[in-house]
Amino acid sequence: MAEHVDEYAPIADIYDAWCLEVVEDIPHYVGMAQGAEAPIVELAAGTGRIAIPLAEAGYDVIAVDPSDAMREHLRTNAERAGVGARIDIRAGDLLDPGIEGTYDRVLIPFRSLLHLRDDHERLAALAAARALLAEGGYLAFDVFAPTPEDIDATQGRWHHRDSGAKERADWHRDDGTTRIEVEMRGRTTTLVLHPAPADHWLGLVEDAGFDVITAWGDFAGGAVRGDGTGDLVVIAQRTGRTETNAAATP
Ligand SMILES: C[S@@+](CC[C@H](N)C(=O)[O-])C[C@H]1O[C@@H](n2cnc3c(N)ncnc32)[C@H](O)[C@@H]1O
Repeated sequence: MAEHVDEYAPIADIYDAWCLEVVEDIPHYVGMAQGAEAPIVELAAGTGRIAIPLAEAGYDVIAVDPSDAMREHLRTNAERAGVGARIDIRAGDLLDPGIEGTYDRVLIPFRSLLHLRDDHERLAALAAARALLAEGGYLAFDVFAPTPEDIDATQGRWHHRDSGAKERADWHRDDGTTRIEVEMRGRTTTLVLHPAPADHWLGLVEDAGFDVITAWGDFAGGAVRGDGTGDLVVIAQRTGRTETNAAATP
């Protein structure tokens, strides 16, 4: 597994409470499993926010995450939900998932790809996802880039969530990163995210050997914003091409 700075370790035990309000993507990702031969692969699976509803819907899941602490909570959550036997939990990274075989679905929910720092890593992760897919299989993921309105409304200000979490976003125009500070129940961390505009992501997806099937601006199928910011929800199908352009990246 590649070297990994675990920004989630300090907040693993409050992650579920922090994300309690994030539910709009669950039907989308559970729906993605329809018609697929099990197991479903989820990369960057965290504490099981998506893997557990998938297992509850009757699908076997391979859930991969590099964070020991997040995987530990996933294990506990899955047992508690009575679906421990359906979820195969593995240590692995987006760049090197470390699993064998090919599958019908690879899911990368909740902006996890924003942890990748540059196009080299983005293409390597997309190539790794592609290598896990049977021909014709689907990759589903979502990412985000801050809108100008987001930046104006939140730059450098603490925001109090219903969950009790305090969050502060700093949008760094110089290096393009978004730094999210999270504080809750005495836990604190800073997540360093690397957003990119929608068109950029879609180009990378095609370069990595996928056809883009849908590219939405939200989970209800709305349009992507014209400036390429906001949410981007992608379903892409592995093409028959065997060569990807990943090797040609800097
Ligand atoms: C926003 S959470 C998403 C977790 C889960 N998929 C969900 O929807 O709640 C991001 C997850 O990505 C994982 N992560 C961070 N960097 C990663 C990397 N380079 N490769 C794989 N996973 C990574 C973290 O450990 C964390 O569990």
